[in-house]
Amino acid sequence: MLDIQSLHKRFGGLHAVNEVSFSVESGLIKSVIGPNGAGKTTLFNLITGNLPPSEGEICFQGTPIHGRKPHQIAAMGMSRTFQNIKLFHGMTALECVMVGCHSRSKAGFMAGMLKLPSTWREEQRIYQRSMELLELLELSDYAQVEATSLAFGQQRAVELARALASEPKLLLLDEPAAGLNIYETAEVARLICKIRDMGITVLLVEHDMSLVMEISDEIVVLCFGEKIAEDTPKNIQQNKEVIRIYLGEDEG
Ligand SMILES: Nc1ncnc2c1ncn2[C@@H]1O[C@H](COP(=O)(O)OP(=O)(O)OP(=O)(O)O)[C@@H](O)[C@H]1O
Ligand SMILES: [Mg+2]
Repeated sequence: MLDIQSLHKRFGGLHAVNEVSFSVESGLIKSVIGPNGAGKTTLFNLITGNLPPSEGEICFQGTPIHGRKPHQIAAMGMSRTFQNIKLFHGMTALECVMVGCHSRSKAGFMAGMLKLPSTWREEQRIYQRSMELLELLELSDYAQVEATSLAFGQQRAVELARALASEPKLLLLDEPAAGLNIYETAEVARLICKIRDMGITVLLVEHDMSLVMEISDEIVVLCFGEKIAEDTPKNIQQNKEVIRIYLGEDEG
């Protein structure tokens, strides 16, 4: 699904991502973990085209995506959520998801202006699809509620629904459990597994280790921009260098 080769990103003298290589197999949940500032969000920004790499190659479904714009990469079947919740004020949960569907809408601007029957049918399709996604993420009862007034966990679920609206094959989630309580975190974990079981590959950045260990098929560990380990959750938990980094963090 995704192949990353010798990826490097410098900000001035800082090597935010340093010679990182790994691949993500189709149908899995792969997680990227590491201390604050390890380069996880930067790695996501490189993959989604939000930042240009200094060096290295990224292939998405066998196609090099170097130099492509974020919307072009998204159109190839990649979608993401952000570390901080980004929902629009004044929009219902349904409208937030419908906005996500519009990126795949076929109706043109003029057809929209003229309110042609084709546009009406397209709007109906988007409405249906958005309602299905809300149902999938167990939000049907909140479709007409203003998204930003929902509980934090439900706002995360709205974000997941919106990210799925573009029908991605690969979904990148940047700290989907940040700020959630243990019950909400368990719900998000269940939803992420549900998404994986639909056949969507997931690349996850998350600090909540119990969530990561529970749902990941494979884990990559970054520290100061470098990949220091890549393995199954069981082996990562026993990896001496990983333990040292995390215990060292606790002591600090
Ligand atoms: N646009 C930027 N310009 C300069 N430095 C940046 C920029 N973005 C990130 N950095 C730096 O790159 C390093 C990696 O940051 P990044 O946000 O990728 O870390 P992270 O692993 O996502 O951390 P966190 O767990 O806190 O979200 C940090 O030292 C950060 O300060
Ligand atoms: Mg980050």
